[in-house]
Amino acid sequence: MKSHLGIKTRAVHAGQCPDPGYGGAAAPIIQSSTFIYDSAEDAAARFAGEKDGFIYTRWGNPTNEMFEMKLAELEGMDSALAVGSGMAAISTTILGSVKAGDHIVACKTLYSGTNTFLTKRAPGFGIEVSFVDPSDIRNFEQAIQPNTKLIYLESPGNPTLEIIDLAAAAGLAKSRGIRTVIDNTFATPINQRPGEFGIDVVLHSATKYLGGHGDLIGGVITASQEIIDELWPTFIELGATLSPFHSFLLVRGMQTLPIRMAEHNGNAQKLAEFLESHSQVNRVFYPGLPSFPGHEIARKQMSGFGGVVCLEVADVEKGRRVMNAVELCSLTVSLGDVKTLISHPASMTHAKVSPEARAAAGITDGLIRIAVGIENVEDLIDDLGRALKA
Ligand SMILES: Cc1ncc(COP(=O)(O)O)c(C=O)c1O
Repeated sequence: MKSHLGIKTRAVHAGQCPDPGYGGAAAPIIQSSTFIYDSAEDAAARFAGEKDGFIYTRWGNPTNEMFEMKLAELEGMDSALAVGSGMAAISTTILGSVKAGDHIVACKTLYSGTNTFLTKRAPGFGIEVSFVDPSDIRNFEQAIQPNTKLIYLESPGNPTLEIIDLAAAAGLAKSRGIRTVIDNTFATPINQRPGEFGIDVVLHSATKYLGGHGDLIGGVITASQEIIDELWPTFIELGATLSPFHSFLLVRGMQTLPIRMAEHNGNAQKLAEFLESHSQVNRVFYPGLPSFPGHEIARKQMSGFGGVVCLEVADVEKGRRVMNAVELCSLTVSLGDVKTLISHPASMTHAKVSPEARAAAGITDGLIRIAVGIENVEDLIDDLGRALKA
């Protein structure tokens, strides 16, 4: 697609085409595990990679390809790989990039599943991991070893929204020949395109904003064609295929991604400002607030600050009371849904992370995470204001 086209135009048109069989105008679902070959010779040519054509859905599917092309187009990357979940994107990328004896430097504020994978699973494969405070790029530099093969980033980080200077991290990694990977789930390509700053691999939990309606589990990896080709055997062997039906929902949902993100960004900013002025709130974490430590870097590399806001109340009991008093916000994990979701990391998403690791990542007992939806923001302010009084 022509790159001069605006992001809303690309979100609607990129990657997808009408149904070639019957001419249906909507992008079709090809819900088939396998594909018929024209002849034995045709099958042989497809298997040998000498001829284009689908073979078997774990190796590629037309609807999955539409989702891949749309996402790669929005991120400004060459190629993409649709996978079965955000965790599949993370595990495929890591296991496809490093081997026993290699070392990874990762930022310390990470989605809890990534944290568990890096602390518990990776060492079993002989992969060494160092975690660093990402607020100062010199911490990454100091942690690099001769066997470092990957720098793993999340910005904004889950859940306390730490911002990493992407150009500085990519510059450092390139000067040492190290691959960079970022989980861009919180930002989406509408708010941040890490490839523009030199990051090599961008991955997402498509379950969140890309799907946008809380009705699917999916993931995606986007990078240069060379890197995607290198990750391909790991993807095939781990077998975390995305269902074509979920790709259909993703292609459908991503057409409205720019307008949904504008609403998420605007609502989150207003809610964060309200919470910052509230007497029952000790602290608010949101990259769009000038008081937030990463605000200046976020302004440089993001065009919107996303839909996640965290607040800190006095203690775990107050946190529980707020969550039990909200009526409009849904008490649940996840984010990126059109409706507002509220959760308490210490007792929910990060319950398996050790108390020491939680404290090191800034997750206090009173921390509440709000994944702000696209409802009328006045209604959200009323709901939370009333809950905080409770
Ligand atoms: C930042 C981030 N990355 C990855 C994941 C994992 O995604 P999934 O549940 O689709 O595997 C999550 C889930 O909450 C997340 O918040």
